[in-house]
Amino acid sequence: MLSDHDKQQLIDQVDAINWYHSIDLGNGVVTKGIDNSANKLSRLKFPESFDGLSVLDIGAWDGFFSFEAERRGASRVLSTDSFIWNGGAQWAGKAGYDLAKKTLGSKVEEKNIDVLDLSPEEVGEFDVTFFLGVLYHMKHPLLALERVSSVTKKMLILETAVDALWSRRPAMAFYPGSEVGCDPTNWCGPNPAAVIGMLKVVGFKRIEIVASSRNIFWRILKSAYHKLKKGHSFWQGIHYDRIAIHAYK
Ligand SMILES: C[S@@+](CC[C@H](N)C(=O)[O-])C[C@H]1O[C@@H](n2cnc3c(N)ncnc32)[C@H](O)[C@@H]1O
Repeated sequence: MLSDHDKQQLIDQVDAINWYHSIDLGNGVVTKGIDNSANKLSRLKFPESFDGLSVLDIGAWDGFFSFEAERRGASRVLSTDSFIWNGGAQWAGKAGYDLAKKTLGSKVEEKNIDVLDLSPEEVGEFDVTFFLGVLYHMKHPLLALERVSSVTKKMLILETAVDALWSRRPAMAFYPGSEVGCDPTNWCGPNPAAVIGMLKVVGFKRIEIVASSRNIFWRILKSAYHKLKKGHSFWQGIHYDRIAIHAYK
C-alpha cells in the first residue's frame, strides 16, 4: 500500500506518459491507455494459466500482455518491440513499458528487436508466442510469420486486422499509403483465408479462429459511422475487420 504522497507521485508519472495499454498498476492507479486492454483478453481467449510455460510477446508496446502472462504463471516472459520503443511514433515510446514494469515489480525480460530479426539464435524458442496487432504493420507478412514460427515451440496467439473480406480465397489488401486509419505503418490486410494459409505454410498444423470478423450488417454500420465521423472510405470499411487465432505446431 502506497502512502498518499507516493501514490500522487506515481499518478504524476503515469499522467506524463501517452499510454497505449490500460494497465492496473495497483493502489487504484490505472494507466489511461487508448486501448481497452483488459477487454481484449476474453476475445483473444487468453489462457487462464501459463503455468511453467515460456512466453514471447512480439510488439509488446506498454507490455500489458507480457505482464498478464507473468501474472498467470509463465516461467519466463520476454517482451520485444522496436518501432514504438525506438520512438517511431512521436507521441509514444518505451517510458510506459518501463514505468509499468518497475511499478509492478515485474521480472519480465525485454529486448529491442525487429520482428524480421527474430531467430532461435537471437532470442531462443518459446512455448507460446503472442503476435497481437502486429501482422498488418508488416511489409513482408509471410516472412514475418516465418520468423515468428521459428521461435514458437507450441502455440501462437495472433490478433490482426483483416481485409479483402469479399473473397473466400486467400487474398490480401496492400496499403501503399495511409489509407487505413491515416496510419502509414499499416501495410497489409490479409483476409482470414490468407492468414490461415500463411500460418500453414510457415509450419503451424492446427489453426483455430477464436474470434472472427463480425457479420456484414455490423460492418456496414461501423463503416457508415467511420465515414461520417472521420471521412474514411465506406467501401473499404465494409471489407475490413479483426480476427484472433490460436495456432499450434
Ligand atoms: C498496434 S500495436 C500492438 C501492441 C500490442 N501487441 C497489443 O496488441 O496491444 C503494434 C506494435 O507492433 C510494434 N511493431 C511494429 N512493427 C514492428 C517491427 N517491425 N518489429 C517489432 N515490433 C514492431 C509496434 O512498435 C507496436 O508496439
